[in-house]
Amino acid sequence: MEQQAIEVKGLRKTYAGGKKQAPKEAIKGLDLTIPAGTIFGLLGPNGAGKSTLINILAGLVKKTDGQVVIWGFDQDVNPRQSRAAIGVMPQEINMDPFFTPRAALETQAGLYGVPKSERWTDEILDLVGLSDKAEAYARNLSGGMKRRLLLAKALVHRPQILVLDEPTAGVDIELRAMLWRNVRKLNEQGMTIILTTHYLEEAEEMCDEIAIINHGELIVRDTTANLLGRMDRKALVVEPRAPAPGQIALPDGVSMEARPGGRLAFTYARNKTAAEDILDAIRAAGIEIRDVATEQPGLEEVFVSLTSNQ
Ligand SMILES: Nc1ncnc2c1ncn2[C@@H]1O[C@H](COP(=O)(O)OP(=O)(O)OP(=O)(O)O)[C@@H](O)[C@H]1O
Ligand SMILES: [Mg+2]
Repeated sequence: MEQQAIEVKGLRKTYAGGKKQAPKEAIKGLDLTIPAGTIFGLLGPNGAGKSTLINILAGLVKKTDGQVVIWGFDQDVNPRQSRAAIGVMPQEINMDPFFTPRAALETQAGLYGVPKSERWTDEILDLVGLSDKAEAYARNLSGGMKRRLLLAKALVHRPQILVLDEPTAGVDIELRAMLWRNVRKLNEQGMTIILTTHYLEEAEEMCDEIAIINHGELIVRDTTANLLGRMDRKALVVEPRAPAPGQIALPDGVSMEARPGGRLAFTYARNKTAAEDILDAIRAAGIEIRDVATEQPGLEEVFVSLTSNQ
């Protein structure tokens, strides 16, 4: 059988309310398995419950009910082993301002009982691009550098599973690219990666599989390719040689919309209409085609269609 990195069954989390605050049910009976070896995207709008789930996996938040199995170890039965299998980069920056990155990593390794001979502090600093800041106080690091240090801390015990909660929030473009390159490298070396991001192009590019959660419930879980394939809509964008002389008799179900630069976008369902039929209709209207491009919906559109009417 395929090895599972994470198995979550019937997971519930209700945050206790306060004097003026009602209790909040953040996770409402979630079942989710994440296969070993994948790059897995956990997506959802603000407040969906992503960080709550991640923090439960990390052992930072106590679940209300349900079962959490990490790398085959039940969190309640084998808390030490299940914790050793996972490294989490949290969304919130929480670090001692007087530690240097090197000291922070050494301390973290100590907490996990990693013997000195097995530590890879310099390699990790290099991996996250903090080698030249190794001896700087954490309080003097920029926001993006602090986030990179959080990632570094998640790696000290060489976990089988690396969880990244919004790793690229506030990180500049160049660094983002470097971060993803390194995450991919870690994955190629066998590490299972679980990540959340609000940049859906990143998820589309990086993730083999995706789960979308909303209001503490699983909306969908599928391969990225299948999710993208769910959207049947496609657009054909045509640039005519001259302004259109007359009406175009379009096939049923095809709609036309004007675009800047005199271009025309024809939206159609792939399973109903062939692009050729649209092109024929355009030519039949006496329009000469200078250029043509196709547009396919991305993950952004899939995400919006699955989470907007909830
Ligand atoms: N410590 C807490 N006490 C009370 N309610 C909380 C606490 N932490 C989170 N919540 C609530 O639980 C729900 C889920 O929050 P969570 O942080 O898991 O969402 P998220 O999916 O990570 O959102 P984001 O995309 O904004 O990071 C929200 O309604 C939030 O207000
Ligand atoms: Mg969050």
